[in-house]
Amino acid sequence: MCGRKSVNVKPASPSGVSHIIEDESAVTAVVLDAMKRAPNARLREIVASFVRHMHAFARETRLTEEEFELGVGFLNRIGQATNDSHNEGILFSDVLGFSTLVCLLNNGQNGATETAAALLGPFWRMHSPETPNGGSIIRSETPGDALFAECHIRDPEGKPLADVEVDVWQASPVGLYENQDPAQANMNLRGKFRTDAEGRISFRSVKPAGYPVPTDGPVGDLLRAQLRHPYRPAHLHFLCYKPGFKTLITQIFVDDDQHLESDVVFGVTRHLIGDFRKGQGVAPAADVAGPWFRLTYEFVMEKGEAKLPVPPIR
Ligand code: BEZ
Ligand code: FE
Repeated sequence: MCGRKSVNVKPASPSGVSHIIEDESAVTAVVLDAMKRAPNARLREIVASFVRHMHAFARETRLTEEEFELGVGFLNRIGQATNDSHNEGILFSDVLGFSTLVCLLNNGQNGATETAAALLGPFWRMHSPETPNGGSIIRSETPGDALFAECHIRDPEGKPLADVEVDVWQASPVGLYENQDPAQANMNLRGKFRTDAEGRISFRSVKPAGYPVPTDGPVGDLLRAQLRHPYRPAHLHFLCYKPGFKTLITQIFVDDDQHLESDVVFGVTRHLIGDFRKGQGVAPAADVAGPWFRLTYEFVMEKGEAKLPVPPIR
């Protein structure tokens, strides 16, 4: 006798659904059935949704076995390229726009009630030097155009917020953070400020430059395969912290950067493009010899939970 043998198999699942796979079209329902008793409701929801979308993706693309192997190899390489000072997994999610999507899903995005959020990025360090308002975050010789920044922080009703801790960090005019560059002093271009009674901080720095994300791992291979450049437009990072208010993590972008329209990690939202005005006449500091710029920006923080992220590096 040929053809299918009919075997009496007891359904494996308490739901009564047999987990014998009849054909391709049955796989998704059987897998979802196997997972549906997970006691953690959020885990149940997330993994079920992931399975539905992953199966739909394989069906839509008619994924071949060679492509499946290539994909698994790629994920394995991401794990192998990740260590205490580099997170290739986050970088992968950054260049797919997934990190920005999750950031905007969870934080203000249109400037109406709070300033739009942007990625923390891999270079935030805790314990950056407390610096008085008006002070400089240039801690070792850093050639470049001088930058004088003045920022105000207010609540959605317009009330200035005093005593907000504001962490600032940026790359140098050669496009490197101090921890990537032996030529810079420890904590160069990093500082922690506190808003005054008018909700204001001010500091001196240098105009930052854009920089490439790391391209020596599998994410670099992906960018090259997609004919994409690896650059982020120049920006300053801000982390604003005040108990009783939702921590604001964002970036302000230099408005004349050539990569503003093509950030490799999709971090630029319109409200975050800064107004970097070229200074005319006498600079605010006597030692400024070349061009100088002034940045003013107003941040809005909403009431909520103040919490600090886990530092990506020490
Ligand atoms: C950054 O802004 O520092 C950054 C964000 C994502 C990937 C690499 C760097
Ligand atoms: Fe950055």
